[in-house]
Amino acid sequence: MIATKQTLPLAALALSLLQPASAAYDLIVSHAGASFFDGWTFATGYDNTTNGDVFWKSDSNVAYVDNAGRAILKVDNVTDVPYNEKRNSVKLYSKNYYRPGTVWVMDASHVPVGCSVWPALFTQGTKWPEHGEIDIFEVVNNESANQYALHTTAGCTASPNATLGQSGTAGPTSCNQAENSGSGCTVRDGNRASAGEGFNANGGGVYVAAFETSGINIWFFSRDSIPAALGAAADNIDLTTLGTPSASYSGSTCDINRYFGSQQLTLDITLCGDFAGGPTILEQTCPALIAPQTCYTTYVLDSRNYDRAYFEINYLNVYGTSDSIDPELSTGGQASVTRSSSSAVQTQTATRSGASRSMTVTGTTTGAGGNTLPTQTPNSGAGSLNVAVWIGGAAAVVAAWGLL
Ligand SMILES: *[C@@H]1O[C@H](CO)[C@@H](O)[C@H](O)[C@H]1NC(C)=O
Ligand SMILES: *[C@@H]1O[C@H](CO)[C@@H](O)[C@H](O)[C@H]1NC(C)=O
Ligand SMILES: *[C@@H]1O[C@H](CO)[C@@H](O)[C@H](O)[C@H]1NC(C)=O
Ligand SMILES: *[C@@H]1O[C@H](CO)[C@@H](O)[C@H](O)[C@H]1NC(C)=O
Repeated sequence: MIATKQTLPLAALALSLLQPASAAYDLIVSHAGASFFDGWTFATGYDNTTNGDVFWKSDSNVAYVDNAGRAILKVDNVTDVPYNEKRNSVKLYSKNYYRPGTVWVMDASHVPVGCSVWPALFTQGTKWPEHGEIDIFEVVNNESANQYALHTTAGCTASPNATLGQSGTAGPTSCNQAENSGSGCTVRDGNRASAGEGFNANGGGVYVAAFETSGINIWFFSRDSIPAALGAAADNIDLTTLGTPSASYSGSTCDINRYFGSQQLTLDITLCGDFAGGPTILEQTCPALIAPQTCYTTYVLDSRNYDRAYFEINYLNVYGTSDSIDPELSTGGQASVTRSSSSAVQTQTATRSGASRSMTVTGTTTGAGGNTLPTQTPNSGAGSLNVAVWIGGAAAVVAAWGLL
């Protein structure tokens, strides 16, 4: 049966929200240019999650937008660090939490490199590992091939190599954080320029991560092979045009709704710690430690080890539907972005009002070729929250539907 967009009944539409994977999504948030840091919270304190030798800061030694409009996130390579102190670095959390039906796209021209350096772009739920973690970009030390991973509780697995539609190489297939020394279910990108020196020498590239109930798929494109449809100003993304992903985690062996809560984007650079600082890991791509020296004493104190330890990000876009941003967990995260490549300005503002759990999302897009989105109220009313969210979600989709 073919239902037209106009006549699809509400019940069928609601059902369709249960189905996996609509392939095309609209731009809902863009972190780029002068306002890149809007919509994020800077971590403070020390690295109490991975035991890295850093203090989380937000000053201009670690985070700024450069003259070319690129966001720089870096390890402090200016300040001397006395023995027993830690080096300043940066960690960002998105104010928004995203539900399945969201695609994150990061275009970077430089990623952090160097012995002891551990950068990552990942997502996580509010409770770890119960609500899941998706590692989109993660390498340590001088490794040049990116490693993807999911971290979950027991019962979520990646498909074995033979059945995978992915170009990367699978490591452990159990995503259970309690197994395999906590590696998660990893996939190593086959492209030796997907991170590290090779990535930077190529002018970088783009990571695309799709979080859907049908599965989690991640693509990497080097600068010279980025699909034309991707870009800071791209208003939508069609996953069916992207080809074979580097890493593919099927919903058939991992119930996404069960193992993943709404996901918060996280971008950080730590030093040494649980992963990069282990002597065996470190020595895979860096000189052997000379006893009794450690990762910390060998690298962290000397600023000169961190001249290449920075992200240079052209944009980080989020694509989805009007239902992608979780109104319960998101704290006013928004995008108010002037996109330099066109005169279009997109503004989306979410406000949340107290115990009534009501939320209003308003969106307008104006400027060259821009269309105007309707004002939406996807979730309001206390008490029957699930129903309110559900009906609200359907109503929001109907509103978007009408625009097609
Ligand atoms: C880590 O430190 C931050 C900031 O001091 C704090 O809010 C957070 O609860 C700590 N997390 C853990 C797991 O201890
Ligand atoms: C996947 O294939 C690679 C390369 O053949 C192999 O090294 C790896 O062990 C395989 N992983 C699994 C989980 O079978
Ligand atoms: C890091 O890897 C590059 C090649 O990707 C190599 O040229 C360089 O010598 C390595 N650096 C260290 C410290 O091993
Ligand atoms: C620190 O890193 C930046 C960026 O790589 C570089 O331009 C600068 O020369 C480095 N050293 C100092 C002392 O700032």
